[in-house]
Amino acid sequence: IWMDLKYFKEKCALIKNYLLPEQIIGKLNEIEHFQFNSNDCICASFPKSGTTLIQEIVYLIQTNFDYESAKKIDISERFAFIEWPTVKLQKFPQNQQRFFKTHLPPTFFNESFTKAKIVYVYRNPKDVTVSLFHFLRSINIELTYSGPWNQFVRSFLIDEVYYAPWWRHVNDYYAMNDTICCISYEDLLRDFRGSVRRLAKYLGKEKELTEEQLDKLEKWCSFDSMKNNPKVNYDWFKDWGFVKKSFSFLRKGQIGDWLNHFDVQQSKEYDQMVSTRLSPLIPPFNYGI
Ligand code: A3P
Repeated sequence: IWMDLKYFKEKCALIKNYLLPEQIIGKLNEIEHFQFNSNDCICASFPKSGTTLIQEIVYLIQTNFDYESAKKIDISERFAFIEWPTVKLQKFPQNQQRFFKTHLPPTFFNESFTKAKIVYVYRNPKDVTVSLFHFLRSINIELTYSGPWNQFVRSFLIDEVYYAPWWRHVNDYYAMNDTICCISYEDLLRDFRGSVRRLAKYLGKEKELTEEQLDKLEKWCSFDSMKNNPKVNYDWFKDWGFVKKSFSFLRKGQIGDWLNHFDVQQSKEYDQMVSTRLSPLIPPFNYGI
């Protein structure tokens, strides 16, 4: 049953110790030369770690809660997904507030990267694996994965999924913790207000963040509200034929869904990976148990 273990490797290239999907390789050179400035906001993450949630929060804080534009414009239009082949890096004028999303680790950018406000969201690797597994199974494009769960876990553990190694990704961003804002998905769910206050402070927007704004933002960003919000729920993927009809981008939105997927041995191997590979700087994960 392991015969297909080279699955991701065949669709990827190993560059600077990261396994990147072939589709984005052609853009790396342009990305390396792209100039960020201090008005830019970048939401960075390993895939399926809460990117969309942090994007919506960052957008609203940074625009002083411009819910009108958030209601009107798809999240993928408000942010430029840096490495996505069809996205023009220069889609926003230089002098405008620019929002970016990326799954690339810092090593693929030049020094101007750190001029921008960078918000990195990370999530416990067991739930990332579950979320990524379901996501890749529902997409129709070349990036799809149709193999079994056990094999997917194996691929994740040997650092052979898109943007892997997951642990190096987290380590590399966390090493910049003094100058960027690192937030865990679990903290966002368990302590929304505390996390958002910390984020607003990083963005220099703490004064704008009243209790009323916090209330409204918390409701706006709840799982149910975002699931029903056509500007963030990626339902447009269905119209594009990008995903199967059964697709739901906001799938479960929980901490601990991994308990429904992992066996004891797999869970142990993840614990082992975390304890041997992950930097001790990173606070212990909340696994929802
Ligand atoms: P699940 O698949 O576990 O449900 P990304 O945006 O990085 O692709 O991450 C997607 C994951 O974040 C999905 O996890 C999705 O449900 C979850 N998510 C998105 N918005 C959320 C919200 N408002 N509250 C909780 N989880 C959310």
